[in-house]
Amino acid sequence: MGSIEIKPGIHWVGAIDWAVRDFHGYITPHGTTYNNYLILDTHVTLVDSVKEDFTEYTIDSIRGLVDPAKIENVVINHIENDHASGIGKIMELTPNAVIYITDRGKKALDRFFDTSRWTFKIVKTGDTLSTGTKTIQFIETPMLHWPDSMMSYVKEDKLLISQDAFGQHLASSARFDDEFCGQYSVSALEHAVRDYYANILMPFGTLVKNKIADIQKLGLAIDMIAPDHGIIWRKDPGKILQMYLDMANDKADLRVIIVYDTMWHSTEHMTIPIMEGIKAAGVDVDVLKLRSTPMSVAIKRVWESRAMLVGTPTLNNIMFPSVAEFLQHLRGLRPKGRLAGAFGSYGWGGGAVKEAYEHFKKMGLETVEPGVEVIYRPSLEDDKKCFAFGKQFAEKTIEYHKKFNGQPTQCKP
Ligand code: FEO
Repeated sequence: MGSIEIKPGIHWVGAIDWAVRDFHGYITPHGTTYNNYLILDTHVTLVDSVKEDFTEYTIDSIRGLVDPAKIENVVINHIENDHASGIGKIMELTPNAVIYITDRGKKALDRFFDTSRWTFKIVKTGDTLSTGTKTIQFIETPMLHWPDSMMSYVKEDKLLISQDAFGQHLASSARFDDEFCGQYSVSALEHAVRDYYANILMPFGTLVKNKIADIQKLGLAIDMIAPDHGIIWRKDPGKILQMYLDMANDKADLRVIIVYDTMWHSTEHMTIPIMEGIKAAGVDVDVLKLRSTPMSVAIKRVWESRAMLVGTPTLNNIMFPSVAEFLQHLRGLRPKGRLAGAFGSYGWGGGAVKEAYEHFKKMGLETVEPGVEVIYRPSLEDDKKCFAFGKQFAEKTIEYHKKFNGQPTQCKP
């Protein structure tokens, strides 16, 4: 029950998590899937495990196809808990199976399980596993996005099983890109891809480019990409490769995103004339209040926009806590190719706007300085200052955007 044949003899036996809304802090309004794949060949091979809570779904799907005791090989492309925490239950059913994993994957798996009873084959890029009529070629992808990560390429089927890369947090009845786009829309799928990339892969843009180049150098013909989350790319795998290259090359929309928080509405008030100034320069602008917006949504919107303005009141001489949390989180994601500026209100000493710029510098972002600050409550004169700052910031954004070949948008079909 529940399995779907994605290529002759290769079956999706994963699980759909309709309910998850908080994926280690990343908000997932559409749930997710934990994909894994069973190859029914002379030597039955399972590629990837599943999150422990969902192991019974996978085992039931396998049982609908073959006795799990007949699994001879288990490939573990990635040991993060959402994929590998179910491996213990699966290995109980087929204790003599050989586990194919990278060296760093094995060392990490040792920290989660008593692996002394299992048999391992450590693999590296270029190593292969024959399942009988099919050949799996392994491709290490360290730090995409964990040190252990790898992909598995099934040569005869031109199928790339890509673990987290090219995935999306989407729970739906659709298993394939064409099915999903038929039921929903192309843009819903693109949004999910960008959301996933921004929140998980943003720090690894250079690695993404290099790894796609490596795959191209290996000369692998790919007509399907099957990630470990979300839909499988069977209609247009080139689309997801191009989207990843675009994002890794820092393409973004010509837009300013204003992210702010406020104590008594003064900083919030400032967003309006600043927004009007940005519009007057002919640049799109969005505004998000941080305490009203999940962190992962704000991160995605920043990632999609060429420039970011951060609004923060001063509280106890430093940034407002929600703004500090946001910038700290963003810093870990190492954004590049984005212009930044800051504004805010204060009562007596100030300090938050200065601190925001210090964060931008630690991130290596180009900035427009000085920002604009207002004491207690914006006056009509302050509104004019804010308008002028917004306009100036937008004009600088237009100039900055040209460095990126003036790409007007990213990831359009
Ligand atoms: Fe989907 Fe890195 O786990």
